[in-house]
Amino acid sequence: MEKLVIEGGKPLAGTIRIQGAKNAALPILAASILAKGKLVIENVPDLLDIQVMLNILNSLGGRTELENHTVSLDMTELSSSHIPEELMKQMRSSIFLMGPLLARFGTVTVYQPGGCAIGERKINLHLQGLEALGAKIMEQGNTIVCCAEQLKGAEIILDFPSVGATENIMMAAAAAEGKTTIHNAAREPEIQDLQHFLNAMGAQIYGAGTSTITIEGVHSFQPCTYRIIPDRIVAGTMMVAAAATRGNIILEQVNPQHLTSLIHVLKRSGVQVTYSGDIMNVQCGSRPKMMERVVTSPYPAFPTDLQSLIMVLLSLADGLSIVKETVFEGRFKHVDELNRMGADIRVDLSSAFIRGVPRLYGATVEATDLRAGAALVVAGLAAHGTTVVEQIHHIDRGYEQIEHVLRQLGARIYRLAPEEVLLQGNYPRN
Ligand code: EPZ
Repeated sequence: MEKLVIEGGKPLAGTIRIQGAKNAALPILAASILAKGKLVIENVPDLLDIQVMLNILNSLGGRTELENHTVSLDMTELSSSHIPEELMKQMRSSIFLMGPLLARFGTVTVYQPGGCAIGERKINLHLQGLEALGAKIMEQGNTIVCCAEQLKGAEIILDFPSVGATENIMMAAAAAEGKTTIHNAAREPEIQDLQHFLNAMGAQIYGAGTSTITIEGVHSFQPCTYRIIPDRIVAGTMMVAAAATRGNIILEQVNPQHLTSLIHVLKRSGVQVTYSGDIMNVQCGSRPKMMERVVTSPYPAFPTDLQSLIMVLLSLADGLSIVKETVFEGRFKHVDELNRMGADIRVDLSSAFIRGVPRLYGATVEATDLRAGAALVVAGLAAHGTTVVEQIHHIDRGYEQIEHVLRQLGARIYRLAPEEVLLQGNYPRN
């Protein structure tokens, strides 16, 4: 398996452009099922998860092409709504296809996506939402079949502001008869991006970004051209990397309004963050200050996807910080690996107690999931000595060519091919 080799201890400096948002592109690609004709979606990141989504759409009879971050799609010839189990297993986000396939074909067969490293990842809220719109749900083993002669608008109250459930319901309700209101909807920027895309295809959806989303069903959708928003989690990852290495970087194509909670924490920790339009400067010349408490929660609160990243910064802070994870039940798997690099972190249920240390030390560590892996890369950049990060396929799911982007900031990092052996002193080539 490939690995990333990092020679740490060097402050990051330079300018990078932030990729398009994976978590906006995935539901938007799924929503393309609703229209016939050629759609063009720009600023799509070239990632493993995107390729899996395109493979699924192709397996259903669609035609897709990804070139230079632009996806051309034509779903006219779509002929099946049975998502292949082996493709569903590759990416749990294929669950986003339920709503649009049900709306287009009146039936859809999927498989329980199952849990992953960060938690159980249930889909009960997705199924309850589709049932409220009139779908009949039949579960047999891990197979789920949904049928609906005609989806009908409904009042839906989510027990939890689930991002995926909100998106699935939006896509199904967009083609339902009548009006749907989603209460306690997720408010993430990716939900707003999906609303803008659906409305560009002729849907009538209002309120994304607030807890109440209203959808007036329509009978047909037109193809369109659309540009995906910047990836706020990739941007946040690079912001923390600049702070943890006491660097000074410029981010281009970023939306600071999507990062207010992280900016607030970084500024309170002594990091300078300034921005104008879609350009942001992040610099840190001193040891970060500890944070009494950072609590992850649905947007606009501190994002769970940046929890592992802020933990790296706080492991270098001056004092004791507490990070509480309230969204996923298993999202502390990076802690043991950080402790192996010299961090001093103790976990008690859903809280991590982080006693800052003066420095981290390079080690061979293993990525367990996407954002845990990203955190280990950032820790390696800050650490003294060489860090080898294994199982980096997790990282490639969400970060496009992470080593190339970081090398633009002067990082000493390179990808070790499976057949390459790390010889003593064979540290990152620049
Ligand atoms: C989306 O996942 C993102 N993925 C996740 O990003 C992100 O961490 C998460 O939202 C929260 O912001 C994509 O958009 C592809 P949820 P999603 O439904 O939709 C529980 C990354 O690193 N829940 O808001 O799966 C669930 O178990 C990924 O890019 C139910 O109980 O998140 C979890 O504890 C990781 N029943 C919580 O809600 C349901 O039916 C949040 O899940 C659905 C969810």
